[in-house]
Amino acid sequence: MTKQTLMTPGPVPLPPEVLDVLALPMEHHRTPEFIALFARVLENLRQVFATNERAFIHTSTGSGGMESALVNCISPGDHVVAVVSGKFGERWADMAETFGARVTRVSVAWGRVVQVEDVRRAMTPETVAVITQACETSTGVLHPIRELAQVVSPTKALFIVDAITALGALPMPMDEWDIDVMIGGSQKAFMLPTGLSFIAFSKKAWARVETCKTPRFYFDIRAERDANEKGESYFSTPVTHIRALDAVLKIFLDRGMHKVHERIAALSRATLVAAREMGLQVLSEVPSPSVTALLVPEGVDSQKVRSHMEKTAGVIVMGGQDQLKTKIVRIGHMGAISDEDMVVTLRSLVQAIAAQKPDAISDAALSRALDEARKILEATPAVLVDSRRST
Ligand SMILES: Cc1ncc(COP(=O)(O)O)c(C=O)c1O
Repeated sequence: MTKQTLMTPGPVPLPPEVLDVLALPMEHHRTPEFIALFARVLENLRQVFATNERAFIHTSTGSGGMESALVNCISPGDHVVAVVSGKFGERWADMAETFGARVTRVSVAWGRVVQVEDVRRAMTPETVAVITQACETSTGVLHPIRELAQVVSPTKALFIVDAITALGALPMPMDEWDIDVMIGGSQKAFMLPTGLSFIAFSKKAWARVETCKTPRFYFDIRAERDANEKGESYFSTPVTHIRALDAVLKIFLDRGMHKVHERIAALSRATLVAAREMGLQVLSEVPSPSVTALLVPEGVDSQKVRSHMEKTAGVIVMGGQDQLKTKIVRIGHMGAISDEDMVVTLRSLVQAIAAQKPDAISDAALSRALDEARKILEATPAVLVDSRRST
């Protein structure tokens, strides 16, 4: 396979420590070694959530974690306020309706952040939950989670956050910010293959779990909790993924979460500064550090840009979804990304735009952009790439 530079907002490039663990022979989940590892993983995961409550692992993609939050906390007929600012918000609001919730959508133009006042106005004394993405991956927007939590927290409603493209990538201290349910996903900042979702519940949310009337089986968090207390998972344990998660959590905690966040933020800043030098507009009103959505110049098709980058440079980025399909490219900043990966990506982006519109970005602008990007990156150690040699 020719080298690919994977720069999507999930899946992301995996560090060597994780690749090594994924290649280990299968082990049974009832060995004393694995039972100890599982306990350590749950404890370290709790620290990434920054909560005193338990953190849980579901064998599911991120959407399973989102479903778990709903079926454990929202009963049929309950009133839910849903922030809908892109593809993932739309899907979550639909999912809540599927389980019988009465959903009020706070619709936000794609690329904009939600206004906290709009959420406050949409809530009624009956509202039992506010659901939102932290980062809406389809637009690269980061919503004001802390401020939203301040509105929801004094009410009876739970604040439920899809942090699938945020947890591990930027600070999301669950307890400190009063988030009631938070969800993460393995193929994002956790640098694992797709297939695990992570979730934690506040005390306020646990009280709801106990009284919630929605039928649940696979995602019954009470059953998962009881199994975890015995050192087991409720269903068959995804041993390989969990051992790899152990390796990732070790990297996070050895390096320090703040260093991981700083590196991801530096990749984001480098991209934003380079975009400014090259005259490319950023779609997102408030860009998330985990992913940057750039508008391609007028007359350029971003799907063709995407495939040109892939064919000529082996660089994989994402295009847009739905109405943004041909208008944006999305560049991910999570995972084991080196300075060189970022520079190669920016250069190939410009070449791909030039293939459709030769005079869109000058050589001088590209060279200024790469210089600025390099300066930012060199100032921030690539802790996720270099972790093996720097311990
Ligand atoms: C913000 C957000 N929510 C939900 C999902 C859905 O996750 P999955 O595709 O793992 O089910 C994604 C996936 O990209 C996402 O970025």
